[in-house]
Amino acid sequence: MSAIDYAEKIPNNVNLQNDRTLQRALEHWQPHFLQWWHEMGPSDFESADVYLRTAVSVDAQGWAHYGAVHMPDYRWGIFLADPVAERKIGFGDAMGQPVWQQVPGEYRSTLRRLIVTQGDTEPASVEQQRMLGHTCPSLYDLRNLFQVNVEEGRHLWAMVYLLHAYFGRDGREEAEELLARHSGDADKPRILTTFNEPMTDWLSFFCFTYFTDRDGKYQLKSFAESAFDPLSRTCRFMLTEEAHHMFVGETGISRVIKRTLEVMKELGTDDPKRIRAHGAIDLPTVQRYLTFWCSSSLDLFGSEISSNSAANFASGMKGRPDETQYEDHVLRSAVFHIELPGGKSEDVPLLNALNEVMRESYLKDCDIGVKRWNRMIERAGHAFRITLPSSRFRRSIGPWAGVPVDPQGNLIPRETYERLLPQWIPSAEDKAFVQSLMKKVVAPGKMAAWIAPPDRGINNLPVEYEYVKLH
Ligand SMILES: [Fe+2]
Ligand SMILES: [Fe+2]
Repeated sequence: MSAIDYAEKIPNNVNLQNDRTLQRALEHWQPHFLQWWHEMGPSDFESADVYLRTAVSVDAQGWAHYGAVHMPDYRWGIFLADPVAERKIGFGDAMGQPVWQQVPGEYRSTLRRLIVTQGDTEPASVEQQRMLGHTCPSLYDLRNLFQVNVEEGRHLWAMVYLLHAYFGRDGREEAEELLARHSGDADKPRILTTFNEPMTDWLSFFCFTYFTDRDGKYQLKSFAESAFDPLSRTCRFMLTEEAHHMFVGETGISRVIKRTLEVMKELGTDDPKRIRAHGAIDLPTVQRYLTFWCSSSLDLFGSEISSNSAANFASGMKGRPDETQYEDHVLRSAVFHIELPGGKSEDVPLLNALNEVMRESYLKDCDIGVKRWNRMIERAGHAFRITLPSSRFRRSIGPWAGVPVDPQGNLIPRETYERLLPQWIPSAEDKAFVQSLMKKVVAPGKMAAWIAPPDRGINNLPVEYEYVKLH
């Protein structure tokens, strides 16, 4: 077990005290991070006592230590999963060789770019979610939002540690830049489009944590395979935290649907107008939000055919999620059949199609929740079914970028696409309606009318527990 030393200014299990230069550099960055948190993190809740989990060690017993914390005092630290003895590279051209404890010179700029791109998403989501606390549907949800926020802050620390420890001056400059770009900023936006989308309502938050944090899970899983061992260990620990974020998304959407089904039963109707008038979110609107955030997240995997992803795999920098599930780890002869717009298709080296392989397994993972939600709807006796959009829908990267296809992936005339798009993703009217429901509910145990209570509270506490003490 690697214990974390909380007496240190920066809690860590990487022996920071033995590397004074690195420690000083990170202690120099720390106040910049706190300043960023103050300005760009959750607005107006700095004096609240929030029931949060904090990692006190990276093993099963210690990583989830619960207690009331003022968020600015949360102990953001640097935690790596324990090393695997004699770990070997598990894929690519160098398969079977020892993993790297330092960055090989020839991969330096690529690895730095991969780490910066991952790192950029972490503070971006905190910025996107900054105002949500003001419209929380319950104290339970408010606490979950803040738990996600502090952990995304910690994920930024995780990436900044790697930049400082392994990339010298360039890494330190990148660490500053990670605090200088901001979600949605006209001059200095975040790197990836999804992380610049505004998020002003909780339905979007639940969709984001379901779909976009799940992209994060897939990226982290592919980095957990990396030959660069510090990156692998960092991401393995991040994945334990990431699971909670997707839990928030999946249960959040489930609770919205549950409440809607209750209202449908009570009123004996599936008429969206009447359901809305009763203060719940009709299922077609839920579907449009899901379609928007799922399709937005599909682009995060990159182009279907990519020589970069081929090079990253061949070199050992980035594997496939759960690499051991595959038989072939070298991929020098495998081909992948890819459908292209205009009825064309092509056989490409599998090595060049790894983004698509990842996107496909991501969509399968997304489907697990959809099946669960559809079972709820079916059990309630309704014919409506939630579906995920095709991976070709509304793309802005790759061969399907800008191609007019419907959510099922069929090519359609552009004017039809433009006419029907507002029925597939949230319209201005949908957004205004959802926004109209966003009213803060903070009496312990009380829920907003558009969402059902959770089945259970956090860490075996009752749902009615005062998870956030507002002063
Ligand atoms: Fe994260
Ligand atoms: Fe996350």
